[in-house]
Amino acid sequence: MHHASNLPVVQIVHRPGVLDLGWGHPDPAVLPVTVLQRATATVLARYGADALAYGAERGPGPLIEWLCTRLMDTDARAPEPADVVITAGASQALDLLCSLCTTPGDPVLVESPTYHLAVRILRDHPLDLIAVPSDADGIDVAALEALLARMARRGKRARMLYFIPTHHNPTGVCMSLERRKALAALAAQYGVLLVEDDVYRELSYDAPAPPSVWSLAPPGTVARIGSFSKSLAPGLRLGYLTADASLTRRLIGSGLLDSGGGLNPFVALTVAEVCTSGDFDRTVAYLHATYRERRDALADGLRDYLPPGCRFTVPGGGFFQWVELPAEIDAGALLSCAEKTGVSYLPGSRFYLDAPRHNTLRLAFSLYPPHQLVEAARRLGEAITTGA
Ligand SMILES: Cc1ncc(COP(=O)(O)O)c(C=O)c1O
Repeated sequence: MHHASNLPVVQIVHRPGVLDLGWGHPDPAVLPVTVLQRATATVLARYGADALAYGAERGPGPLIEWLCTRLMDTDARAPEPADVVITAGASQALDLLCSLCTTPGDPVLVESPTYHLAVRILRDHPLDLIAVPSDADGIDVAALEALLARMARRGKRARMLYFIPTHHNPTGVCMSLERRKALAALAAQYGVLLVEDDVYRELSYDAPAPPSVWSLAPPGTVARIGSFSKSLAPGLRLGYLTADASLTRRLIGSGLLDSGGGLNPFVALTVAEVCTSGDFDRTVAYLHATYRERRDALADGLRDYLPPGCRFTVPGGGFFQWVELPAEIDAGALLSCAEKTGVSYLPGSRFYLDAPRHNTLRLAFSLYPPHQLVEAARRLGEAITTGA
């Protein structure tokens, strides 16, 4: 790609010679450039100046209506239009929820480990973050109950709980249905707003994604945030939120939306065109096939090349493979050796608020084609064997 400026256009920084599985970005080669080209032209022809006006605060009707029918197919319950707000990505949805539902210093619970950049958003507000442990079935609901009871005895109430129950970043775990139900009941009992990060729902490779906690919970308990970053393209900066209508009314009445109107209205109308034309379905089908193959290639490579004592569970969706090294190996200390061998990753400690498990790491299989993922696994195995 040739750009006229020397200043950067994209966020990613490439390092020659390094297969960098640290970035949780899509491969530029899979981004739907021609689909967006077509939809943009169609939207300008169909809506004219309306496509370029300040948008309706909730987001454009065609996208909201499409989302309601889509979630009927991909989730256990469809929202009503009044339950939906279109946002500038999941990140912005989380930021807006923090702005309107918390006061600086409020106690906020965070599943641990978790998406490290969501923690940065929560800290911007700034909130008093408290880790909630999780295991191979998702959040440890019994530990959460004990924590909430302990806080209540001290007269404290957690304002929110941020968590990723479906194809978790970084662990790939899907929370069990039993725990989803128990969590919903517990949150309702203690008056904690669950902020369910659901950005990988469309990227389920083996089976349909489980019902969202939003779909299982009493009204008003959950704000679920979704995104088109993973199912179409992150540069669209487009996502959405489903929550009780009383909460979405507060969000669309915020100063931000009152001043600027709905978020990214031109992009939102364009994405509505992509969705209703059938291009969304075709793109997602292509992404499933592509990412499934990549996930499997990386898993095969890890099976072939990681030394004994390394453990991993192949995820059913999303972008990430979590790897547990033998207990005595520190993935942070190993990183410089790995990079000399030509592979990089994010050390697992980056994803914990407290008590990090140093012998873990996260590999993204989204950015490279299968043969490079196999080579990355080979280099990782070599680094572990020689560097440890
Ligand atoms: C769990 C999770 N939430 C949110 C995001 C960011 O989403 P968006 O691009 O919609 O802001 C990501 C991106 O990696 C993610 O993994």
